[in-house]
Amino acid sequence: MTTLLHLDASARRRSISRELSAAFAEAWRAQKPDGGYSYRDLAAEPVPCIDEAWTELCDTVLTQPGTDLDRLAELVRTPGQAAAWAIVEPLLTELLAADVILIGTPMYNYSIPAALKAWLDQVTFPRMSLGDRRFVVCSARGGAYSPGATKAAFDYQERYLRDFFAGHFAVTDTVFVSAELANSKQDPALAQLRARHDESYSAAMKSARELAMGY
Ligand SMILES: Cc1cc2nc3c(=O)[nH]c(=O)nc-3n(C[C@H](O)[C@H](O)[C@H](O)COP(=O)(O)O)c2cc1C
Repeated sequence: MTTLLHLDASARRRSISRELSAAFAEAWRAQKPDGGYSYRDLAAEPVPCIDEAWTELCDTVLTQPGTDLDRLAELVRTPGQAAAWAIVEPLLTELLAADVILIGTPMYNYSIPAALKAWLDQVTFPRMSLGDRRFVVCSARGGAYSPGATKAAFDYQERYLRDFFAGHFAVTDTVFVSAELANSKQDPALAQLRARHDESYSAAMKSARELAMGY
């Protein structure tokens, strides 16, 4: 059975990245009615930042040969480590059970929201290879960062996630769907860019639905 893990990270409830990820998830679930599906709202129910006990667990895991979750549980030594493990274990179980990981995320400060970074920190356990998983990132940005845009080089959101998934999780199958120029919806000074945003948003919604058919 194929399983989709769907994460959202926007602080906004009415959010473009949420709409894009929902479009992908809806299309995916319609074509895979028997597929597994789990959803986590990282903004509404934030994953805590890692703490010292998490780093202790991480250091202990580094001394072990494997990354079998049941065996990792045996490495817990202190109440603090037990509390850290109680947070990270369900996140790892959920992640490892998924074949496709769908992330709806805004660009914040040229990168990703702290809510998503907190999740990444938690699940980035040593030797956690996710090589055969596929990642889909549905993102929304206030400005424009596609090739040729003045700020293209400032896109640390897509570059960071792509490089991190490849470098740390050994995942090379990461696809991005982005809606740009979202700030033109709120900022009257950018009103002349609204038509370009509408175009980018419509294209991204279409891509998200179509992409789901191939997963
Ligand atoms: C805290 C914060 C930081 C932001 N930083 C950037 C940024 O660096 N570059 C950018 O293009 N847009 C930035 N934006 C605009 C968002 O990317 C834009 O509003 C986007 O639509 C948010 O995604 P959402 O609609 O899914 O919430 C920022 C917005 C917020 C709230």
